[in-house]
Amino acid sequence: MSADEIKALVFDIGSCSMRAGYAGEDAPQVDIPTTIGVIADRKDGRTPNGDQSKYYIDASTLNEPKENVEAYSPFKDGMIEDWDGFQAILDYTYKMIIKSKPRLYPTVMSEVAWNAQDKREKLMELMFEHYEVPAFYLGKGPSFVAFANGRTTGLVLDSGSKYTAAVPVRDGYVLQKGIVKSPLAGDFITQQCRHYFKERNIDIIPPYMIASQESVREGEPAIWEQIAPLPQVTQSWHNYMCDGVIQDFKASVLQISKTKFHEKVAAKEPDVHYQFPNGYNCKFGTECLQIPEGLFDPSNVKGLSDNNMLSLTDVVIQSIELCDAGIKKALYSSVLVTGGNSLIEGYTERLRKDLFSKVAQEMNLKVFSKKPPVERKNNVWFGGSTFAALASFPQLCISKQEYEEGGRQCLAKKCP
Ligand SMILES: Nc1ncnc2c1ncn2[C@@H]1O[C@H](COP(=O)(O)OP(=O)(O)OP(=O)(O)O)[C@@H](O)[C@H]1O
Ligand SMILES: [Mg+2]
Repeated sequence: MSADEIKALVFDIGSCSMRAGYAGEDAPQVDIPTTIGVIADRKDGRTPNGDQSKYYIDASTLNEPKENVEAYSPFKDGMIEDWDGFQAILDYTYKMIIKSKPRLYPTVMSEVAWNAQDKREKLMELMFEHYEVPAFYLGKGPSFVAFANGRTTGLVLDSGSKYTAAVPVRDGYVLQKGIVKSPLAGDFITQQCRHYFKERNIDIIPPYMIASQESVREGEPAIWEQIAPLPQVTQSWHNYMCDGVIQDFKASVLQISKTKFHEKVAAKEPDVHYQFPNGYNCKFGTECLQIPEGLFDPSNVKGLSDNNMLSLTDVVIQSIELCDAGIKKALYSSVLVTGGNSLIEGYTERLRKDLFSKVAQEMNLKVFSKKPPVERKNNVWFGGSTFAALASFPQLCISKQEYEEGGRQCLAKKCP
C-alpha cells in the first residue's frame, strides 16, 4: 500500500466501549469494551508500569473467569485516568485488530467536550512520541456528531454510559458555557434494574456460572447447575459480568413511556416475555416503562441522592438557555440525539414530545436521531470517519513535523 492509499484510523473512546476503524467507512471495524481486567497482585490493585501482559482486554479474554482479576475502567468522568490501562487497550487494538504498526496511520480520536488541557496534551504526546503516528487530530465528540448529521451547528444530546451531556456546537466548535451534564444515563438505568431485581427477588446469574439449565414454566424458580469448580473471581469482575446480563435485559425489555408514566396507562401496553441465562423467565408489564422513567422524570426515582435533578428534557433546555440569544433558535431547530442509552425504545419520541410541550413554537424545534440503532450509537465515530476522509484533512490535522516544531501549542491551534 502506498502512503497515499493509507487511510486515517479513527477512534471513538467512551467509558463503556471503544469504536475503531478506518476513515471514510460507514461503520467502525471494532467496538470493544473499555472495561479491562487486571491481575490484582499488588496492594493498589494495579500491575507494575508497562507490564501489559497482565491485562485482559476484549470479550474473548476478559469474559473468562479467572482468580484475582479485577475489572475496572481506565476512564473517569469521560476522561483518561489510568494511562497504563488506556495504552493496553490501544496496544491491543493496533496489534489484534489493525494488525499493523501505528506509525503508518494518521490517527483521529474523539474526546469529551470537557477534557482537561493537561490530559489532551499528554494524549498528543503519547501518540507522537510512543506510537509515532505520522499525524494526529483530537476532535470533540459533539462536533463529530454534528458533522455526522451534515451540520455545523446543533445541540448534541449524547446519552452514554456514565453521563448524558447536552453540548451546543456552533460552526463546528463546542460552546463551552452551554455544556450541561447529567448522571441520568446508561449506568443509572443499570442501577435501576438492579434495584428492581432485588425487590422482585430475581437473581442475576451470569453465563460464566452456569453449567446447565432446564426449561421451566413462566414465573417458576430456575433449575440450573453451577459450573464446578469455579475460580474465586473478584466482586468487580462478577459485577461486570452481571452488567452484561442487565445490558441484554435493558435492550430487550425497557421502553420509554410516550408521556409521563401512569400505572393505569402503562398497564394497557402489551407485556414483554424475557428469559434470563439461568432459565428463569417471566412477563414484564408496567415495569418495562417504569424502570427508565427516571430519565424524563427524576422526581420519583428511588435511590437517587438528589430528586431535584433535571430531566433530560430540561438538560437540553438549560444547555440552550445558557447560550447567547442569537443562537438559541438555531440550536432548538437542530437537536441531535446520540449514544447507546438513547437506544432504549421510545427515547427520542419522548424527548421530542416533552420538548414540544416546553419550547415556544417560534423556536422551530426539531429533534433528529439516526433511525438504525447502530448508526445512532456510532454517530461520534462516523462523524470522525467522515471528517478524516475530507480532502482537506491532511491540512487540518497536526503533522509529526508540526508537533516537533511547535510542541504543545499545535493542539490549541489545530484542535481547539
Ligand atoms: N439497545 C440498548 N438499549 C438500552 N441501553 C443500551 C443499548 N445499547 C447500549 N446501551 C447502553 O448504552 C450505554 C453505552 O453507551 P455508549 O456506547 O454511547 O457509551 P460510551 O460512549 O462508551 O460511554 P460514555 O459516552 O458514557 O463515555 C451503556 O450503559 C449500555 O448499557
Ligand atoms: Mg460516548
